[in-house]
Amino acid sequence: MSSISIIGTGNMARTIGARAIAGGNTVEVMGRDQSKATDLAKTLGGDTTTGEWGTAPAGDIVIVALLYDGVVPAIVQYGDALAGKVIVDISNPFNSTFDGLAHREETSIAQEVARAAPAGAGVVKAFNTVFRQVLEKGRPDVFIAGDDAPAKAQVGAFVESLGLRPLDVGGLNMAHWLEGAGVLTVGLANHGVGNLDFSLGVSELSV
Ligand SMILES: NC(=O)c1ccc[n+]([C@@H]2O[C@H](COP(=O)([O-])OP(=O)(O)OC[C@H]3O[C@@H](n4cnc5c(N)ncnc54)[C@H](OP(=O)(O)O)[C@@H]3O)[C@@H](O)[C@H]2O)c1
Repeated sequence: MSSISIIGTGNMARTIGARAIAGGNTVEVMGRDQSKATDLAKTLGGDTTTGEWGTAPAGDIVIVALLYDGVVPAIVQYGDALAGKVIVDISNPFNSTFDGLAHREETSIAQEVARAAPAGAGVVKAFNTVFRQVLEKGRPDVFIAGDDAPAKAQVGAFVESLGLRPLDVGGLNMAHWLEGAGVLTVGLANHGVGNLDFSLGVSELSV
């Protein structure tokens, strides 16, 4: 089992935190508003702890569950406190009409996190293609991307502890396309599917 720190106190922090605890992991919550972190820790229960924003997280895996424009600034603010950690970026940088990416270049928030992170931190993109509602009650595939194989393996093991299937899509450059897949899920929710009760997954015909 893994030790997890979650930076953020919103919906995804609550949902991933709840599943993490159910999967036997230890969880720490950190929020820029300490009272929200305390409230979330109480809601999650178990042995959930809180940490102070900007200080070294207790967990080996640090899930950054912030709105996309807060992610890189938070990584910069934490700085060396993240040395040696596995950093998981789950963000979707949607444009204002939710039909494209907010960044114009072929990059991703995860790649920008890797540029900002201290040496020795491993960065993985994960969870961004899964709607919170599905994560609460379903067993979606969780696509992961990263250049650091041990970091990706740790995140894969964590995803499995949640009862979900991790699917490696390749290096961190693939985070750009995972962010594009996030746009695709919103397009499907708004058009062909018409609701949030689905997830993108892989069906292997040979299995
Ligand atoms: N919801 C989903 O279905 C879903 C699915 C996949 C991925 N995601 C991604 O997961 C991330 C979190 O989504 P969410 O649904 O949990 O959002 P949320 O409920 O709105 O929570 C957002 C969190 O980000 C914090 N935050 C916002 N701007 C910040 C900033 N500039 N600096 C520091 N903290 C900041 C908020 O803190 P305060 O409370 O203090 O404002 C809050 O803790 C997003 O990047 C989203 O794209 C969401």
